[in-house]
Amino acid sequence: MSNLHVFDHPLIQHKLSILRDKDTSSKLFRELVSEIAMLMCYEATRDLPLEDVDVETPVAVAHCRHIAGKKLAVVPILRAGLGMVEGMVAMMPNVKVGHVGLYRDPETLEPVKYYFKMPPDIQERDAIIVDPMLATGGSAAAAAQFLKEVGVKHVKLMSIIGAPEGVERMRSEHPDVDIYLAALDDHLNEHGYIVPGLGDAGDRIFGTK
Ligand code: PRP
Ligand code: URA
Repeated sequence: MSNLHVFDHPLIQHKLSILRDKDTSSKLFRELVSEIAMLMCYEATRDLPLEDVDVETPVAVAHCRHIAGKKLAVVPILRAGLGMVEGMVAMMPNVKVGHVGLYRDPETLEPVKYYFKMPPDIQERDAIIVDPMLATGGSAAAAAQFLKEVGVKHVKLMSIIGAPEGVERMRSEHPDVDIYLAALDDHLNEHGYIVPGLGDAGDRIFGTK
């Protein structure tokens, strides 16, 4: 699966093991989601283009490189994706944040859109969608579609845990989208939850269950 990247960095894997634990508090869960997002951001931006720049240090001119190319937007899928924004923004302080509001219909498991607000120059930006869970892939595929419809040319998806079903759906509907995961789990259960997963990410972040 060439466009799937699963990060096996020890720090990410260690934090993920605590995140999965059913006894982890909401406070710690939120902190871990943010920290994992920060570490994944570091890896998922490895291919950003650089350009040469000369910087005058107090001693001499240093030949340096800084990030070139298109500007970025981070696009969390509400609600749970919000938990990943702080970590992303910590790494990329000037990034703009667009929001896509989607929830899964509990019967059909299909995403229902209730909010969409992007930076005004979104068509000039590359976008990284963030959502901790890639389950059926319905939410991520819809978010990628909305972004393409407003003119975004290059979309990435960053999720903490993915199911094979979600990866397959993304690959068939959006083969151009690179997918970054901290873990690829086994399967979905009959309620559309990732097994073993971590339960309902939104509820665990916001303490709503
Ligand atoms: C969760 C999760 C994803 C979606 C993944 O959101 O945060 O957005 O499910 O499932 P899918 O791949 O099958 O679409 P949920 O609908 O529970 O909403 P919430 O974030 O508001 O809790
Ligand atoms: N959404 C979640 O929050 N968890 C899952 O396991 C699947 C979808």
